[in-house]
Amino acid sequence: MTKKLNHLGIIMDGNGRWATARGLARTEGHKAGAKTVSRILEACQKRDIHYVTLYAFSTENWKRPAGEVKVLMDLFNDYLDKDVAELQKKDIRIHFIGDRSRFSPEIQKKMKRIEEKTRGDETYHLILALSYSGRDELVRAMKQFGKDICFGKKQPEELTEESFSSYLDTAGLPDPDLIIRTSGEQRISNFLLWQMAYSEFYFTSVLWPDFSESDLDEAIDSFEKRERRYGQLL
Ligand code: FPP
Repeated sequence: MTKKLNHLGIIMDGNGRWATARGLARTEGHKAGAKTVSRILEACQKRDIHYVTLYAFSTENWKRPAGEVKVLMDLFNDYLDKDVAELQKKDIRIHFIGDRSRFSPEIQKKMKRIEEKTRGDETYHLILALSYSGRDELVRAMKQFGKDICFGKKQPEELTEESFSSYLDTAGLPDPDLIIRTSGEQRISNFLLWQMAYSEFYFTSVLWPDFSESDLDEAIDSFEKRERRYGQLL
């Protein structure tokens, strides 16, 4: 089976600890983390990784102190204003996954515009998981399928793994091959629960703001050395 890394998912963790260790406010860690995002995306494109999904804000993160949520919203807003224009120049198509109804109308409008503007750039894809959790995505998908049954658009027998996938926010996107989590935590934290059925995992103690190109290469090397059998005997 192929070992080409086509889709990389990243759980970017450790911003708060990075800042605290330096005597800074946690929000400074998020600002440093945003710089790492730009650096690592560039590195991924150089390595010809076609899909990158970043777990930037979980549904649970809404419960953080209002000040921290505000800084994160401002960072996303800035990112959508500035960095996305750069991504567009590099032919990167942007997708958003998650419950976007919880964002301000301004951010929602921007998301829609960015998705429309970058549609057609099909070689590289950046998938930003914002206000996302895997369980929430699954529940929203099931609700929609249920509604389609009620309105006679679908029969229960039509539910298959493939047809169900088309109800997810990630419809049309390949499943992640490798998922990296930074900061030493070894948990999934509600990321891409359905999609990670056959993903490989790589956990590193490096905190996200410090995550470098060579850390990325270490993760890719580890992935390439693994044998992926998808439950079969090869
Ligand atoms: C987890 O670290 C990180 C987040 C909750 C936010 C991730 C956001 C960024 C990397 C910056 C902005 C991103 C974009 C796409 C512009 P944590 O705060 O849980 O760290 P801790 O576990 O050390 O407290």
